[in-house]
Amino acid sequence: MRKYLIISVIVLAAAGAGGWLLSTAGAQTETVPENVDIAQGEKLYGEFCASCHGADLEGQPDWRSPGPDGILPAPPHDVTGHTWHHPDRVLFNYTKLGGEATLALQGVEFESGMPGFGDQLSDAEIWNIIAYIKSTWPERQRAVQAERSAAQRQQEGN
Ligand code: HEC
Repeated sequence: MRKYLIISVIVLAAAGAGGWLLSTAGAQTETVPENVDIAQGEKLYGEFCASCHGADLEGQPDWRSPGPDGILPAPPHDVTGHTWHHPDRVLFNYTKLGGEATLALQGVEFESGMPGFGDQLSDAEIWNIIAYIKSTWPERQRAVQAERSAAQRQQEGN
């Protein structure tokens, strides 16, 4: 049983990676572009994200517990957080539109401490930051995240 589980995870991860490669060809706004600039992403992360998410992507202390205002602190973007659980579309929307607008798209009402950066960063710059964040994850987290991104794209038919 366990063996089958492991095999199917590997197959899914491979399919995810393949889907990612294929879907980058069409270069849509919300699909990871073919050419990402990780160095620029790292620089922009330092300028726009590190103040809340931490210089080493470590997040804010006690990030799982809401503060006195009921708003959650900034979570880490490293493996200890849940950024790698989310498909590309969610990471992109969260950064471009902010937490509130992104969750509203999913019909969820939520007061979020995550601002939108759509008026400060271009789509390409946002993808570069996301690429930088991903580049810090170990292989396993990258594979899981690639697979979830592919699954979501398939579900949405692009
Ligand atoms: C003013 C503080 C602040 C800044 C600056 C900020 N964030 Fe956030 N971010 C938050 C908070 C607080 C949350 C958690 C609340 C929520 O989930 O809505 C969050 C959540 C997120 C999430 C969703 C949760 C997750 O783990 O995936 C992403 C993605 C994200 N931020 C990316 C970024 C990126 C990229 C930048 C820089 C361009 C950035 N943030 C800058 C405060 C901030």
